[in-house]
Amino acid sequence: MTHVPNDSGNLPADTTSFVGRRNEVARSRQLLSRTRLVTLTGPGGMGKSRLALRVAAQVRHSYPDGAWLVDLAAVEKEDLLEHAVLAALEPGHDMGRHPLATLTDHLDGKRLLLVLDNCEHLLQGCALLVHALLASAPGLHVVATSRQALGVAGEHLLTVSPLSAPDPDNPGQVATAGQSEALRLFADRAAAALGEHAPSDFGRAAALICHRLDGIPLAIELAAARMRVLTCEQILDRLDDRFALLTGGSRAALPRRQTMRAAVDWSFDLCEPREQLLWARLSVFPGTFDLEAVEKVCTGTGLARKEVLDAVTGLVDKSVLTREGDHLRARYRMLETLRQYGRGKLGDRGEAGQLRRRHRDHYRSLVLLAEAQWFTGRQTVWFTRLHQERANLRAALDFCLSHTGEGRAGLEMAGALWSHRLGAGSLEEERHWLARTLASDSTPSLARVKALWADGWMALLRGDTASAHTRLAECHMLANALGDLSAKAHVEQFDGLIALFRDDFARAVPLFESALRQYWAHGNLGDIWSTLFLLSLSCCLSADPRAAALCEESLALCESHDAQWSRAFALWISGLRLWLTGDVEQAVSALREGLGVASATDNRLALAQCLEVLAWARAGEGHCVEGSELLGAAGSVWSQVGATLPGVGRLLRHRTECEVLLRQTMGPTRFAARIRAGAGFTTEQAVARALGRPVPSPGAAQAPASALTPREAAVAELVAQGLADKQIAAQLVISPRTAQGHVQRTLAKLGFTSRTQIAIWVQEQTPRS
Ligand SMILES: Nc1ncnc2c1ncn2[C@@H]1O[C@H](COP(=O)(O)OP(=O)(O)OP(=O)(O)O)[C@@H](O)[C@H]1O
Ligand SMILES: [Mg+2]
Repeated sequence: MTHVPNDSGNLPADTTSFVGRRNEVARSRQLLSRTRLVTLTGPGGMGKSRLALRVAAQVRHSYPDGAWLVDLAAVEKEDLLEHAVLAALEPGHDMGRHPLATLTDHLDGKRLLLVLDNCEHLLQGCALLVHALLASAPGLHVVATSRQALGVAGEHLLTVSPLSAPDPDNPGQVATAGQSEALRLFADRAAAALGEHAPSDFGRAAALICHRLDGIPLAIELAAARMRVLTCEQILDRLDDRFALLTGGSRAALPRRQTMRAAVDWSFDLCEPREQLLWARLSVFPGTFDLEAVEKVCTGTGLARKEVLDAVTGLVDKSVLTREGDHLRARYRMLETLRQYGRGKLGDRGEAGQLRRRHRDHYRSLVLLAEAQWFTGRQTVWFTRLHQERANLRAALDFCLSHTGEGRAGLEMAGALWSHRLGAGSLEEERHWLARTLASDSTPSLARVKALWADGWMALLRGDTASAHTRLAECHMLANALGDLSAKAHVEQFDGLIALFRDDFARAVPLFESALRQYWAHGNLGDIWSTLFLLSLSCCLSADPRAAALCEESLALCESHDAQWSRAFALWISGLRLWLTGDVEQAVSALREGLGVASATDNRLALAQCLEVLAWARAGEGHCVEGSELLGAAGSVWSQVGATLPGVGRLLRHRTECEVLLRQTMGPTRFAARIRAGAGFTTEQAVARALGRPVPSPGAAQAPASALTPREAAVAELVAQGLADKQIAAQLVISPRTAQGHVQRTLAKLGFTSRTQIAIWVQEQTPRS
């Protein structure tokens, strides 16, 4: 399923037909209109999640702030519950405060529907969270799905029953079985499996299958998927045999939970041995995963790498796996009931521990590779990829924390994710993992130095200087003890950063210079560039004559490596320098370019920085309304990112001067009103405002394909294939700058802010076969 978060929410589009449930939908809507928490309960596979999504889609228009889905199946621990909700509502979110406080702030004054899907394994955490959120946000409504009630005051339960199924003892009813929901579901899924060979009427055997399976949607889907190889009669025979075994040969009905279990057992037994093995092993992935991960994690005894594709195909054909829409890379998901079943089988095989370790090893390598390739043209691709893998990364980090002797690997992972989190705005989560991994392994190591350094950065960004000092002291001691040169460079850079945040440029500059020399000798390009960036910033702010050359060097390094994500920062600093030296026109041009790149690469920190300095520049030129709106917009992105750039004292002063100027010129009431208006902008609106274009109304993302010129459409295709500007330029035989211009215009026309959104949009435009 694909979704693009926007102001109306993040509900995924249906990828298969929805059947029946008219009464349940009506009843849920009625309950929602008079209560604020409705929990859909019922056994696994009964259709709770699907019903919740249906209801949410139907009532979405009643919630001006949208309907939002949070799938909790992949959240294994209660301590990440709030992060998961925040991450769904606001992909980059505030750090530095308790996530619950951030959540309540976010929901303050909003009318919004939250779908908390699959709560059963986090019952207590969900109950506490829902209770707190409902108490603090009067405009919030919640639909939860869970096998059990949450047990919160004011909760209304709706038990999800099976789909209506034909009764074989009532011949009249079998004749009109086309009316039954279960049979319609069976027919829809069988038709999808058989394509043009599907009969128009599946006959009595199909009705009996639905009856046998008690109308349980998941069981029916599993059976229908078998139509590729078996006839209805054959499926029925086999089901009869299985159920006869369970009921001691009699035709007595089974309890529903057993029916579901029997249906899954049956589906499992009909899989080839390799598919069975893979089913069990795949249960190690929470959420979605790609083929490469399956090959790395699930192969070995009983399943060779070259057999994986066939086995995955088999499981997709049998509806055990669903393919998710991602234009760049196919991903797969297993429904929770089937995953739990697989987990049981994995346990029976005694492979659970081994698989979790292999899962961790794979994601650890992935994170380290992303770090090694960070300062390259793949930056944006890695950014998206790590975001998609967040459930797996959490599970891998959790493995490190819950197994003795694995702390070092956890430190390496958390440390390596640092630059990704910086732009994604998930700083709070990064600190969560850093704090835990640092506590779990205190032996001196390079990984520890790196994690201390990363946590120090995060601490400074949130204005927590005391923690930064503590981290620096330990970093210093460890680097000396280890005698490692790159560790020493980290310490100097870190020390310089603390000085920079204190406006102590005389101290910061030589520290950055020294760190830079060491990184050139012993570090990687990412470290070199970030130090160069910090050195440029210090020189700009202290009017050092080297500032211009350093800013150029910083920009050139990004351009020569096609590191677009970093380039947004480099453009920001160039703009800042130009503005500080009085060249406002050039400054605005650099900052607007920076803003375009920041939004195209989803770099939220750079987005906030560019908006902020643009606000100062435009306000200084007398564009007071624009200046204050941009300031308001910057403020809201800052709070999403959770960093306080103006934490660098000198910058904070410029912000304050700008505010004073605007307040005096416009009067406090008008100023406050424009700040509020800017703070309410979506990212698209803020970018449009900053680029001097008309501010789109929210939801403009539905632009038709015809809005693009043929050249822009071709560029969109290539963006969707994951190509960077340079590669697009090579393909279309145009200059990289022109390619970049096309990308920017495409983003603007579609009302998007990121390349990923273009990719999803292209996919949605492509007719499905
Ligand atoms: N009304 C329906 N129309 C079409 N498909 C349905 C319907 N209800 C359920 N399904 C399908 O049946 C399968 C199981 O449904 P769903 O995931 O909603 O069950 P669930 O009760 O949430 O299970 P779990 O407890 O495992 O989370 C899914 O593939 C879903 O798309
Ligand atoms: Mg569910």
